[in-house]
Amino acid sequence: KTVGITCVPFSGGQPKGGVDDGPVEMMRFGVLDQIQDMGYNIELSDGMDKYQTMKPADDPPIGKMKNPRYVSMAARRVAEQVRAQCEKGNIAVTLGGDHSIGMGTLVGSSSVYGDDLCVIWVDAHADINTPDTTESGNLHGCPLSFVLGICDAESPFDWIKPCIRKDRLVYIGLRDVDATEKAILRKHNIKAFSMHDVDRHGIGKVVEMALDHVNKDRTLPVHMSFDVDALDPSVAPATGTPVRGGLTFREGHYICEAVAETGCLVSLDLVEVNPALGDPESLRQTVAVGCSLVRCSLGESLL
Ligand code: ARG
Ligand code: MN
Ligand code: MN
Ligand code: MN
Repeated sequence: KTVGITCVPFSGGQPKGGVDDGPVEMMRFGVLDQIQDMGYNIELSDGMDKYQTMKPADDPPIGKMKNPRYVSMAARRVAEQVRAQCEKGNIAVTLGGDHSIGMGTLVGSSSVYGDDLCVIWVDAHADINTPDTTESGNLHGCPLSFVLGICDAESPFDWIKPCIRKDRLVYIGLRDVDATEKAILRKHNIKAFSMHDVDRHGIGKVVEMALDHVNKDRTLPVHMSFDVDALDPSVAPATGTPVRGGLTFREGHYICEAVAETGCLVSLDLVEVNPALGDPESLRQTVAVGCSLVRCSLGESLL
């Protein structure tokens, strides 16, 4: 079996520099060797340097959206690279970069797996603002609204057609959801397990309920998008929008292990690792946990 890795050193979906160094730091930590040591072949998508050089000279806001052309171009390239990996039957692993690239990975994976694709979005945030509801204008807070067709994607995002079913999306770990986003989740009946649900039921039950919601028979292909800020800042401090009260180290890993056990994972994002934030020890810890979440998602077991 082959793991197709796409590195996306991209930070245009939010204002903090450094998140574009996430992929290279995870590679420096040895993530490729670690995956190979698990018995996988590795295929690396090419031209990771292009993401930085494709930044347009002039990219003024469109409405509230910041860096709209740059985000759109990068996401479009991600979509093509992830699609190519999925077409070959590889497990497509995308290393970010900020979460705006999620619109690319979802377009890419769903272009191969169709609307059977189930999405497990592990995050402190819902990332479902529309260009109208976003307060920050940061597009890493918006990727899901485009792919779900909650807003009609206008230029430069008009290449994105609705491709993910609302009943095949489920969240785990939410705890900082904008009021506008709460309204969207309610209106469209989108299933979400917040940290309150994790406290109440325990992570084992929550993951089971989440999988039951999107993939009752465990036969459909699954995409997991793991934002490292889903973890508690004490576990993953080096990230741009940390929120207290997050998943423990083990809860985060449990989600990945349980998803791996289904055998349904076809694509995975690991995003929002920002090596520029915090001291060297926070950096090392966050990069290390990112790599270990990837390994667990690919089936590394404790025994
Ligand atoms: N909801 C906030 C916004 O729209 C925060 C989004 C944070 N997203 C993330 N991928 N870390 O700006
Ligand atoms: Mn987040
Ligand atoms: Mn907030
Ligand atoms: Mn996110």
